[in-house]
Amino acid sequence: MSIDLWPVGEDFAAEIGDVNLSLPISKNLAEEILTAYNTYAVLIFPNQRLTQDAHVRFAKIFGDIDHSMVADMEMAVPRVPTEIADVSNLGSDGSVLDEDHRMIGFQRGNRLWHTDSSFKHVPANASCLYMQSIPPVGGQTEFADMRAAWDALAPRLREKIRGRIALHSIANSRKRMGFDMTDEENESYPQVPQALVRSHATSGRTSIYLAAHARSIVGMPQEQADALIDTLFEHATQRRFIYAHRWRTNDLVVWDNRCVMHRGRPFDDTRWPRDAQRATTIDIGNTCEQEGLSDGTTHLFDAAE
Ligand code: OGA
Ligand code: MN
Repeated sequence: MSIDLWPVGEDFAAEIGDVNLSLPISKNLAEEILTAYNTYAVLIFPNQRLTQDAHVRFAKIFGDIDHSMVADMEMAVPRVPTEIADVSNLGSDGSVLDEDHRMIGFQRGNRLWHTDSSFKHVPANASCLYMQSIPPVGGQTEFADMRAAWDALAPRLREKIRGRIALHSIANSRKRMGFDMTDEENESYPQVPQALVRSHATSGRTSIYLAAHARSIVGMPQEQADALIDTLFEHATQRRFIYAHRWRTNDLVVWDNRCVMHRGRPFDDTRWPRDAQRATTIDIGNTCEQEGLSDGTTHLFDAAE
C-alpha cells in the first residue's frame, strides 16, 4: 500500500494522503485508489495542485468522461474545457456572477440531494470535484451513503421499491429551486428511466438510487409516488448516513454516484467566490439495463404517461 488512507466512517468516506495527483498515475496507484473507492465511496485528497489537464487525466482512472451539460447551454461561461463541469459561481474573468445571471439560479439546483447525471440515459459513475477557492462560511458538501440507507431500510419498503423504475429529469430539480429550463434545454434532456434500487458493479452492495431529478415512479399513481419518494429521501438523509465535508482550498473529493447522494450547502453566492470544478465519468450503461429491468421498460413507461 503506497497511499496513506484514513477512514472517516467505518466504510464510508476516507481521507487519502501521500499522493500527488498532478504526477502520472501508475497502474498500482490507480488500483489502490479504485479499491478504496469501491469500499469507501467518498475519497478526500487534500492539498492537490492540479491543472485542468491533470484533473481530467486523474478522473479517467474511473472511466470515460461524462461531458458537461452546462457546457452546451447558451448561458455557459467558457472557463473550463468540456471535459469539466463548471459548478462555480464565477464568470470568465473570475469574478462572482450577478444574482440575476441564469447560471447562479441553475447552480442552486445542486443544493437539493441528488446523484450526478441521473437525468441522462447513462448516468455518472465517479465525480471528482476540485475546489480552488471556498467561502469562509457555508458552502460545505454533504454526502449520504445509499448503501447504508438500503441496509437499514424496513423490509416492507425494500419490497415496495425493489425492481421499480423512477423517471428522472433535470427540469424537476431546477423547478423545485424556482429555475425554469428553456423549451430547447428540455428537449435536449427528456426524462429517463432509472432503477430505484441497484447493486454495485464491484462491491455487490445494494443501494437506493434516488435524486431530486426523480419525480415519478413507473406504474404508480403520482400521489403514491410523491409520498414514497418523500419517505425514501427522509430515510436516506438521516444524520447517521451522512458525511459533511468542510472544504479546504485545493481539496479534491471523489464520490461514487452509483451509491452516494450529495448536496451543496448554501452560502452567500453573490459575495464569495467558490471555484468548484468537476470532472465526471460515465457509468457502464443505463441502470435499468444493468439491473435487468430493460424488458418492459418501454411498456411501463407508456403506461405512466
Ligand atoms: C456537483 C455538486 C455540490 C457542491 O459538483 O455535482 O452537486 O457543493 N456540487 O458544489
Ligand atoms: Mn452534483
